[in-house]
Amino acid sequence: MAVKFLVRGIQAALALLLAALAAALAGQWAAAAVLAVLLALLPAGYYFYCLLRLRALAARGPEAAADFVFGTGAWLAGALQHREEILPFIKSFPEPPRAVAEIGRAQGGTLALLCSAAAPDALVISLDLPGGAFSGELSSFNKAFWRRPLLRAMKGPGRRLELIDGDSRSPESLRRFAEALGGRRLDLLFIDGDHSYDGVKADFERYSGFVRPGGVIAFHDIQPCAARPGVEVSRFWRDYQLPGTRAEYVKDRAQDGMGIGAVRLPG
Ligand SMILES: C[S@@+](CC[C@H](N)C(=O)[O-])C[C@H]1O[C@@H](n2cnc3c(N)ncnc32)[C@H](O)[C@@H]1O
Repeated sequence: MAVKFLVRGIQAALALLLAALAAALAGQWAAAAVLAVLLALLPAGYYFYCLLRLRALAARGPEAAADFVFGTGAWLAGALQHREEILPFIKSFPEPPRAVAEIGRAQGGTLALLCSAAAPDALVISLDLPGGAFSGELSSFNKAFWRRPLLRAMKGPGRRLELIDGDSRSPESLRRFAEALGGRRLDLLFIDGDHSYDGVKADFERYSGFVRPGGVIAFHDIQPCAARPGVEVSRFWRDYQLPGTRAEYVKDRAQDGMGIGAVRLPG
Protein backbone atom coordinates (compact mmCIF):
# COMPACT_ATOMS: atom_id res chain seq x y z
CA MET A 1 0.00 0.00 0.00
CA ALA A 2 2.84 2.39 0.90
CA VAL A 3 4.53 1.76 -2.45
CA LYS A 4 1.25 2.27 -4.32
CA PHE A 5 0.74 5.55 -2.44
CA LEU A 6 4.28 6.71 -3.31
CA VAL A 7 3.84 5.73 -6.97
CA ARG A 8 0.55 7.68 -7.09
CA GLY A 9 2.32 10.73 -5.57
CA ILE A 10 5.15 10.54 -8.11
CA GLN A 11 2.66 10.08 -10.96
CA ALA A 12 0.70 13.15 -9.82
CA ALA A 13 3.89 15.23 -9.55
CA LEU A 14 5.09 14.15 -13.02
CA ALA A 15 1.68 14.82 -14.58
CA LEU A 16 1.61 18.34 -13.07
CA LEU A 17 5.20 19.00 -14.16
CA LEU A 18 4.57 17.88 -17.74
CA ALA A 19 1.31 19.83 -17.94
CA ALA A 20 3.07 22.96 -16.60
CA LEU A 21 5.88 22.57 -19.17
CA ALA A 22 3.39 22.03 -22.01
CA ALA A 23 1.41 25.11 -20.94
CA ALA A 24 4.62 27.18 -20.80
CA LEU A 25 5.73 25.97 -24.25
CA ALA A 26 2.31 26.91 -25.62
CA GLY A 27 2.74 30.37 -24.13
CA GLN A 28 -0.12 29.88 -21.64
CA TRP A 29 1.67 31.42 -18.70
CA ALA A 30 -1.31 31.71 -16.37
CA ALA A 31 -2.10 27.98 -16.70
CA ALA A 32 1.59 27.11 -16.28
CA ALA A 33 1.75 29.19 -13.08
CA VAL A 34 -1.37 27.53 -11.61
CA LEU A 35 0.03 24.06 -12.38
CA ALA A 36 3.40 24.98 -10.84
CA VAL A 37 1.66 26.16 -7.66
CA LEU A 38 -0.29 22.88 -7.49
CA LEU A 39 2.99 20.97 -7.87
CA ALA A 40 4.54 22.95 -5.01
CA LEU A 41 1.48 22.24 -2.84
CA LEU A 42 1.80 18.45 -3.12
CA PRO A 43 4.19 18.11 -0.10
CA ALA A 44 1.91 20.38 1.94
CA GLY A 45 -1.02 18.16 0.96
CA TYR A 46 0.83 15.11 2.23
CA TYR A 47 1.65 16.91 5.48
CA PHE A 48 -2.01 17.76 6.16
CA TYR A 49 -3.07 14.26 5.15
CA CYS A 50 -0.68 12.87 7.83
CA LEU A 51 -1.89 15.37 10.41
CA LEU A 52 -5.55 14.47 9.92
CA ARG A 53 -4.88 10.72 9.76
CA LEU A 54 -2.81 10.81 12.98
CA ARG A 55 -5.57 12.64 14.82
CA ALA A 56 -8.14 10.06 13.70
CA LEU A 57 -5.87 7.09 14.39
CA ALA A 58 -5.09 7.88 18.00
CA ALA A 59 -8.35 6.27 19.09
CA ARG A 60 -8.31 3.30 16.73
CA GLY A 61 -5.79 0.96 18.35
CA PRO A 62 -2.39 -0.53 17.47
CA GLU A 63 -3.28 -2.31 14.19
CA ALA A 64 -4.63 0.87 12.58
CA ALA A 65 -1.66 2.89 13.88
CA ALA A 66 0.79 0.31 12.49
CA ASP A 67 -1.00 0.33 9.10
CA PHE A 68 -0.37 4.07 8.89
CA VAL A 69 3.12 4.24 10.39
CA PHE A 70 4.40 1.42 8.15
CA GLY A 71 2.16 2.45 5.24
CA THR A 72 1.15 5.82 3.85
CA GLY A 73 2.55 7.76 6.84
CA ALA A 74 6.02 6.20 6.58
CA TRP A 75 7.68 9.30 5.05
CA LEU A 76 6.66 11.75 7.77
CA ALA A 77 5.78 9.61 10.80
CA GLY A 78 7.61 6.36 10.15
CA ALA A 79 9.02 4.03 12.79
CA LEU A 80 12.56 2.64 12.71
CA GLN A 81 11.11 -0.74 13.67
CA HIS A 82 9.96 -4.04 12.25
CA ARG A 83 6.18 -4.16 12.31
CA GLU A 84 6.42 -7.89 13.18
CA GLU A 85 8.28 -6.97 16.40
CA ILE A 86 6.75 -3.75 17.72
CA LEU A 87 3.15 -4.76 17.06
CA PRO A 88 3.20 -8.04 19.07
CA PHE A 89 5.14 -6.18 21.76
CA ILE A 90 2.59 -3.36 22.21
CA LYS A 91 -0.26 -5.86 21.99
CA SER A 92 1.28 -7.98 24.76
CA PHE A 93 0.23 -5.72 27.65
CA PRO A 94 -2.52 -7.34 29.74
CA GLU A 95 -4.04 -3.86 30.22
CA PRO A 96 -3.47 -0.61 28.33
CA PRO A 97 -0.62 1.22 30.10
CA ARG A 98 -1.65 4.43 31.86
CA ALA A 99 1.80 5.99 32.11
CA VAL A 100 4.26 5.42 29.25
CA ALA A 101 7.60 6.91 28.28
CA GLU A 102 10.01 6.53 25.40
CA ILE A 103 13.62 7.65 25.07
CA GLY A 104 14.39 8.15 21.37
CA ARG A 105 11.63 9.51 19.16
CA ALA A 106 13.13 10.26 15.71
CA GLN A 107 10.08 10.80 13.42
CA GLY A 108 7.64 9.72 16.12
CA GLY A 109 6.64 6.33 14.71
CA THR A 110 7.00 4.55 18.04
CA LEU A 111 5.30 7.47 19.77
CA ALA A 112 2.23 6.99 17.56
CA LEU A 113 2.27 3.24 18.24
CA LEU A 114 2.74 3.61 21.99
CA CYS A 115 -0.08 6.17 22.15
CA SER A 116 -2.38 3.82 20.24
CA ALA A 117 -1.76 1.06 22.81
CA ALA A 118 -2.01 3.31 25.88
CA ALA A 119 -5.16 4.00 27.91
CA PRO A 120 -7.35 6.80 26.49
CA ASP A 121 -6.39 9.07 29.42
CA ALA A 122 -2.75 7.97 29.68
CA LEU A 123 0.25 10.16 30.34
CA VAL A 124 2.82 9.74 27.54
CA ILE A 125 6.34 11.17 27.78
CA SER A 126 8.69 11.30 24.81
CA LEU A 127 12.30 12.32 25.43
CA ASP A 128 14.60 12.88 22.48
CA LEU A 129 17.65 14.79 21.34
CA PRO A 130 16.37 15.80 17.89
CA GLY A 131 18.96 15.14 15.20
CA GLY A 132 21.17 13.26 17.66
CA ALA A 133 23.13 10.07 17.02
CA PHE A 134 21.21 7.02 15.76
CA SER A 135 18.44 9.17 14.28
CA GLY A 136 18.57 7.68 10.79
CA GLU A 137 18.88 9.63 7.55
CA LEU A 138 16.20 12.20 8.31
CA SER A 139 17.84 13.72 11.37
CA SER A 140 17.56 17.36 10.22
CA PHE A 141 13.83 16.92 9.53
CA ASN A 142 13.39 15.74 13.11
CA LYS A 143 14.51 19.17 14.35
CA ALA A 144 12.08 21.05 12.13
CA PHE A 145 9.38 23.18 13.76
CA TRP A 146 6.59 21.72 11.58
CA ARG A 147 7.15 18.28 13.13
CA ARG A 148 5.62 19.40 16.44
CA PRO A 149 1.95 19.44 15.28
CA LEU A 150 2.38 15.92 13.86
CA LEU A 151 3.75 14.67 17.19
CA ARG A 152 0.97 16.40 19.10
CA ALA A 153 -1.66 14.83 16.83
CA MET A 154 -0.47 11.35 17.85
CA LYS A 155 -1.83 11.54 21.37
CA GLY A 156 -5.53 11.86 20.49
CA PRO A 157 -8.08 13.80 22.52
CA GLY A 158 -7.73 12.39 26.05
CA ARG A 159 -4.06 11.53 26.59
CA ARG A 160 -1.52 13.96 27.99
CA LEU A 161 1.67 14.17 25.95
CA GLU A 162 4.91 15.63 27.31
CA LEU A 163 7.58 16.21 24.65
CA ILE A 164 11.02 16.74 26.15
CA ASP A 165 13.88 17.73 23.86
CA GLY A 166 17.32 17.20 25.33
CA ASP A 167 20.15 14.77 26.00
CA SER A 168 18.80 11.96 28.18
CA ARG A 169 22.04 12.05 30.17
CA SER A 170 21.68 15.71 31.15
CA PRO A 171 20.42 16.58 34.65
CA GLU A 172 17.97 19.03 33.02
CA SER A 173 16.30 16.24 30.98
CA LEU A 174 16.09 14.05 34.07
CA ARG A 175 14.54 16.91 36.03
CA ARG A 176 11.98 17.63 33.31
CA PHE A 177 11.16 13.91 33.04
CA ALA A 178 10.50 13.67 36.79
CA GLU A 179 8.46 16.88 36.63
CA ALA A 180 6.33 15.51 33.76
CA LEU A 181 5.60 12.39 35.81
CA GLY A 182 4.66 14.46 38.84
CA GLY A 183 5.19 11.59 41.28
CA ARG A 184 3.46 8.92 39.16
CA ARG A 185 5.26 5.70 38.22
CA LEU A 186 5.56 4.36 34.67
CA ASP A 187 3.86 1.17 33.46
CA LEU A 188 6.14 1.09 30.44
CA LEU A 189 9.52 2.57 29.49
CA PHE A 190 10.76 2.09 25.90
CA ILE A 191 14.51 2.76 25.52
CA ASP A 192 15.55 3.52 21.91
CA GLY A 193 17.89 6.53 22.12
CA ASP A 194 21.69 6.34 22.32
CA HIS A 195 22.46 2.77 21.17
CA SER A 196 26.06 2.62 22.45
CA TYR A 197 26.66 0.30 25.41
CA ASP A 198 27.31 3.25 27.72
CA GLY A 199 24.31 5.12 26.30
CA VAL A 200 21.75 2.37 26.82
CA LYS A 201 23.22 1.56 30.23
CA ALA A 202 23.01 5.23 31.25
CA ASP A 203 19.36 5.42 30.12
CA PHE A 204 18.49 2.26 32.01
CA GLU A 205 20.27 3.38 35.19
CA ARG A 206 18.83 6.91 35.11
CA TYR A 207 15.22 6.17 34.14
CA SER A 208 14.38 2.61 35.30
CA GLY A 209 13.74 3.94 38.82
CA PHE A 210 10.63 5.69 37.45
CA VAL A 211 9.03 2.35 36.50
CA ARG A 212 6.59 0.80 38.97
CA PRO A 213 7.07 -2.74 40.38
CA GLY A 214 5.51 -5.08 37.79
CA GLY A 215 6.07 -2.50 35.02
CA VAL A 216 7.95 -3.16 31.78
CA ILE A 217 11.24 -1.77 30.47
CA ALA A 218 11.92 -2.49 26.80
CA PHE A 219 15.03 -2.03 24.67
CA HIS A 220 15.19 -1.73 20.90
CA ASP A 221 17.91 -3.31 18.71
CA ILE A 222 18.79 -6.27 20.93
CA GLN A 223 19.96 -8.28 17.90
CA PRO A 224 23.72 -8.11 17.11
CA CYS A 225 24.21 -5.49 14.40
CA ALA A 226 27.26 -5.91 12.15
CA ALA A 227 26.11 -3.20 9.69
CA ARG A 228 26.21 -0.47 12.37
CA PRO A 229 29.20 -1.15 14.67
CA GLY A 230 28.22 1.59 17.19
CA VAL A 231 24.94 -0.19 17.98
CA GLU A 232 25.76 -2.16 21.12
CA VAL A 233 22.34 -2.86 22.67
CA SER A 234 22.80 -6.60 22.05
CA ARG A 235 25.84 -6.62 24.36
CA PHE A 236 23.91 -4.74 27.03
CA TRP A 237 20.92 -7.10 26.68
CA ARG A 238 23.22 -10.14 26.91
CA ASP A 239 25.59 -9.03 29.70
CA TYR A 240 23.78 -6.60 31.99
CA GLN A 241 22.11 -8.12 35.04
CA LEU A 242 18.53 -6.97 34.49
CA PRO A 243 15.98 -7.70 37.19
CA GLY A 244 12.71 -9.45 36.25
CA THR A 245 11.31 -11.70 33.55
CA ARG A 246 12.58 -11.32 30.02
CA ALA A 247 10.73 -11.61 26.71
CA GLU A 248 12.09 -11.12 23.19
CA TYR A 249 10.28 -9.98 20.03
CA VAL A 250 12.51 -10.81 17.06
CA LYS A 251 11.21 -11.19 13.52
CA ASP A 252 14.04 -13.47 12.37
CA ARG A 253 16.87 -14.73 14.60
CA ALA A 254 19.27 -14.50 11.64
CA GLN A 255 18.54 -10.82 10.94
CA ASP A 256 21.19 -8.12 11.46
CA GLY A 257 20.03 -5.64 14.10
CA MET A 258 16.57 -4.74 15.49
CA GLY A 259 14.58 -6.96 17.83
CA ILE A 260 12.90 -5.81 21.04
CA GLY A 261 13.85 -7.10 24.48
CA ALA A 262 11.40 -6.48 27.33
CA VAL A 263 11.89 -7.07 31.01
CA ARG A 264 8.97 -7.13 33.44
CA LEU A 265 10.13 -5.95 36.86
CA PRO A 266 9.24 -8.06 39.89
CA GLY A 267 5.75 -7.08 41.13
C1 LIG B 1 16.69 4.99 16.53
S1 LIG B 1 16.05 6.57 16.78
C2 LIG B 1 14.52 6.29 17.59
C3 LIG B 1 13.55 5.63 16.71
C4 LIG B 1 12.12 5.65 17.17
N1 LIG B 1 11.96 5.10 18.50
C5 LIG B 1 11.31 4.85 16.18
O1 LIG B 1 11.37 3.63 16.20
O2 LIG B 1 10.67 5.46 15.34
C6 LIG B 1 17.04 7.17 18.08
C7 LIG B 1 16.67 8.56 18.55
O3 LIG B 1 17.36 8.79 19.78
C8 LIG B 1 17.89 10.10 19.75
N2 LIG B 1 19.03 10.16 20.67
C9 LIG B 1 20.30 9.76 20.47
N3 LIG B 1 21.06 10.00 21.55
C10 LIG B 1 20.23 10.55 22.48
C11 LIG B 1 20.41 11.04 23.79
N4 LIG B 1 21.61 11.02 24.40
N5 LIG B 1 19.35 11.56 24.46
C12 LIG B 1 18.13 11.60 23.85
N6 LIG B 1 17.90 11.16 22.61
C13 LIG B 1 18.93 10.65 21.93
C14 LIG B 1 18.25 10.35 18.30
O4 LIG B 1 18.33 11.72 18.00
C15 LIG B 1 17.08 9.67 17.61
O5 LIG B 1 16.02 10.57 17.42
